[in-house]
Amino acid sequence: MLRPLVIAPSILASDFSKLGEEVRNVDRAGADWIHLDVMDGHFVPNISYGPDVIKAIRPYSKKIFDTHLMIAPCDPYLEAFAKAGSDIITVHVEAGPHLHRSLQAIRALGKKAGVSLNPATPALAIEHVIDLVDLVLIMSVNPGFGGQTFIPSAIEKIAAVRALAAGRPIDIEVDGGVTADNAAAIAAAGANALVAGSAVFKGGNEAAYKANIAAIRHAAAGPRGEAV
Ligand code: DX5
Ligand code: ZN
Repeated sequence: MLRPLVIAPSILASDFSKLGEEVRNVDRAGADWIHLDVMDGHFVPNISYGPDVIKAIRPYSKKIFDTHLMIAPCDPYLEAFAKAGSDIITVHVEAGPHLHRSLQAIRALGKKAGVSLNPATPALAIEHVIDLVDLVLIMSVNPGFGGQTFIPSAIEKIAAVRALAAGRPIDIEVDGGVTADNAAAIAAAGANALVAGSAVFKGGNEAAYKANIAAIRHAAAGPRGEAV
């Protein structure tokens, strides 16, 4: 049973001087979800944007807002990210001592709950919360920056998470260094949601985004037995 294929452009790689327009362009170009990377300069060595920015760009697309929190602590901010218009809120296993509580809190806010694993964290770290999540996000780079190279061991971890999910309705998402060249291997291992920043936003205009998204989708559809 395959979950739908999702291409989720990360606007971290977009032109921040016209963020609303970039969200609209990538929506029109065929994005399934909009991936939002929130960084605090503490959990990760970079600072991006917060709930007010997400609220400001919310009107530019009706697509799923997939918010990836790379912040610690996260609990005090979950409500703000829910109110800003996130549909999915993902927190990191490594971000705090009370992962179970954070996931419960996200669901209590009426949002889909995701859990993310850094490259050095094994799949087993989420075994005890697997029934509390709608999505597992496997980091295939060390979080903090776009434009890094895909870490190959993520492929094995995708398969391990898929086994752990054991047919539950959980999206398996991969984030970092995803391109049309590795999308087939990622999909073959069992991921259905592919985040891509630089590989989508290269070219800088809607026509380029459309071609870039189509190339990733085409590559990922192959091993799924889907023709696009
Ligand atoms: C990294 C972020 C990613 C990143 C992906 O911390 O979580 O979403 O923006 O960018 P690319 O696709 O350029 O690796
Ligand atoms: Zn991300």
